[in-house]
Amino acid sequence: MSERLDGFLAHRGFGTRSQARDLVRGRLVSVDGLMCRDPSLHITDQVVTVEGRVIAAGVDTATLLLHKPVGFACSHDPDEAPLLDELIPDDLRHLALQSAGRLDRDTSGMIIVTTQGELIHALTNPRRHVLKRYRLLYRGKLSHHAVARVAKGMVIEGDPKPTLPARLELEGVGDDGTGRATIHLSEGRYHQVRRMIAELGGEVVALHRDRIGSLELPAELAAGMVRTLSDEERAQLFVEPG
Ligand code: URA
Repeated sequence: MSERLDGFLAHRGFGTRSQARDLVRGRLVSVDGLMCRDPSLHITDQVVTVEGRVIAAGVDTATLLLHKPVGFACSHDPDEAPLLDELIPDDLRHLALQSAGRLDRDTSGMIIVTTQGELIHALTNPRRHVLKRYRLLYRGKLSHHAVARVAKGMVIEGDPKPTLPARLELEGVGDDGTGRATIHLSEGRYHQVRRMIAELGGEVVALHRDRIGSLELPAELAAGMVRTLSDEERAQLFVEPG
């Protein structure tokens, strides 16, 4: 089966069709060793390279960095709409994309969406110890031992197994009584931050994830935006933050 060159690239993680056309017109794409400037060229079994890197013909993969806005569900169930899927560019909707872990509907921030099961496993398996950083606002007064309890691991309601040791940083309370804090977790249980803060005497009123491993949510990626994750960014996900 043949496929237009722009669609071929878009389906393999090189952005939208229009971004793929820009790559072709920018002379970055070769077909069978010859630079190609025609995005409408039909590809069957030729060897396509982008900036010298061979793109596997049979593989239809993508790994995306997405800034989830509040209000969207990490689910494929239409009853839970609006869904994260709606933020995926049309050109990539045919792919079996899954999010690496979930952020709950009321949480915003950074999420990796990919066709690669091994990447999802590596990011979500607590044994890999990939730290996720959450910024939060909370109401109420946290227990005096909050930082130590989080550091030690604590039991949260409905879950007999203590949480893994984590780091909580308290950053003060505003005039309106709302507290600011940062928490770093290497696991991702259901509503974990909200349940931990509830156990400590507070109530989360806003929650945002802004870093995974050493990769920070890029400032230019506004809520609702999505783009391809580069290889360098992917590597940063597994670098322990300094
Ligand atoms: N903890 C939560 O409570 N919610 C999230 O979305 C992520 C971590």
